Amino acid sequence: MAKIGLFYATDTGNTRKVAKMIKKQFDEGEVELFNVKGATAENLTACDALIFGTPTLGDGELPEPLAEFLPTLESADLSGKTVALFGLGDQVGYPDEFVDALGILYKKLRKLGVRLVGSWSAEGYEFTKSKAFRDGAFVGLALDQDNQADLTEERLDEWLEQVKLELLGETVAG
Ligand SMILES: Cc1cc2nc3c(=O)[nH]c(=O)nc-3n(C[C@H](O)[C@H](O)[C@H](O)COP(=O)(O)O)c2cc1C
Repeated sequence: MAKIGLFYATDTGNTRKVAKMIKKQFDEGEVELFNVKGATAENLTACDALIFGTPTLGDGELPEPLAEFLPTLESADLSGKTVALFGLGDQVGYPDEFVDALGILYKKLRKLGVRLVGSWSAEGYEFTKSKAFRDGAFVGLALDQDNQADLTEERLDEWLEQVKLELLGETVAG
């Protein structure tokens, strides 16, 4: 069975909550959660596929534990692994930096030779600028627990439908 590692950072717990919601959508044992605080390169390489989740903090910045985890991430051989990203932000409070951390993380991972999946339409969001918005879409699932918490479950369901088979390494029949 494919093992998916879901690595997350969190400040006030929203991202952890979403990580748990994602885990629930998979079969028992398919997804293991890791707080990046304390996670190792071996934790990363032992997984067949990866999901990363991060809030944006400061003014469009990575949370500190994730910034501190980057050298570990860069030291691990992740080439060829399938990776999906989700990010939490606040489009009303930070319309010029909405989910920027998602874009920063995407850029780092692209350099590591991973296969990134799970881009997401920006329809239904209101923001002016985002580092996570590239080529007409978000580079991963954008969630806003501050202003659109009521949409999170529905967005997650739809996104997971998109990325689940790719993360599990199964090919779609037909
Ligand atoms: C100090 C602070 C700075 C923030 N900066 C941003 C930001 O630049 N862009 C953004 O989209 N959201 C920003 N947010 C919103 C958080 O990303 C959002 O509340 C998120 O759900 C927090 O997730 P967590 O509970 O996992 O830490 C900020 C929140 C705080 C408290």
